[in-house]
Amino acid sequence: MPRKTVLDLQRMKAGSQKIAMVTAYDATMARLADAAGVDMVLVGDSLGMVIQGHADTLSVTLDDMVYHGRCVSRGLQHAHLTVDLPFMSYQLSPQQALQSSGRLVKEAGAQSVKLEGGERSAPAIELIVTAGIPVVAHVGLTPQSVHATGGWRVQGRGEAAARQLVQDALAVQQAGAFCVVLEMVPAELAAEVTARLHIPTIGIGAGADCDGQVLVCNDLLGFDSSFKPRFVKRFAELEAPMVGAFRDYVAQVRDGSFPAEEHSFHREGRNSKIARLY
Ligand code: KIV
Repeated sequence: MPRKTVLDLQRMKAGSQKIAMVTAYDATMARLADAAGVDMVLVGDSLGMVIQGHADTLSVTLDDMVYHGRCVSRGLQHAHLTVDLPFMSYQLSPQQALQSSGRLVKEAGAQSVKLEGGERSAPAIELIVTAGIPVVAHVGLTPQSVHATGGWRVQGRGEAAARQLVQDALAVQQAGAFCVVLEMVPAELAAEVTARLHIPTIGIGAGADCDGQVLVCNDLLGFDSSFKPRFVKRFAELEAPMVGAFRDYVAQVRDGSFPAEEHSFHREGRNSKIARLY
């Protein structure tokens, strides 16, 4: 089965089939998500936080996205690959947005690119789509505007803000986006947007009525037990077993029980058959 296309994903909305999207940043995680049947893998600029250890996504570069996109691309067989346009790689002009998107397609193997912003990003979306590159839009909480929004807050709670959010979603659809991420939006508002759009909505902190859901893989897998925002469900708690495995390794290196006989090679005559396999 080849990689999912934008047409496959749009058909899923038409057939009321939910879309499962998850982030990945390397080939191993991409392979595991792909094997599980995830529909879309996003190389999110959240890698600035969960891979690079920054407090936000602002310092991520286009070169970072190309590098991680290329790694993830090698791990995928079936899932559609979307790569984020990072902060300041598309805001200067639609031409800059197209040039950056072109790099993500040509150098990282992206099948589509994602950018933040509603009405304000419509001209960039239009130009990218005209060049034949599918676009995922992202409205509601837009982490690249964290200093303007004053933090990680739910968006669209008041009447005027809700109206603006609907307008933003309609504007990105009109501009040609094939899909839109709704981040940290009241569930009722996300349901209204989902009903009004013909393109799929993918929610994160946006309730159950979106056409699909996205989570950061590190959150879904429970890599950091201290990070538990309301919208995250941990489908595994891997921090403790991972730290436990590292601890056992350290202990066995120190007490000499690792490596054991079965992990060791010998000269001709003992386990040389095994040794020849490597
Ligand atoms: O960067 C990211 O991982 C994202 C998702 C959380 C939607 O934009």
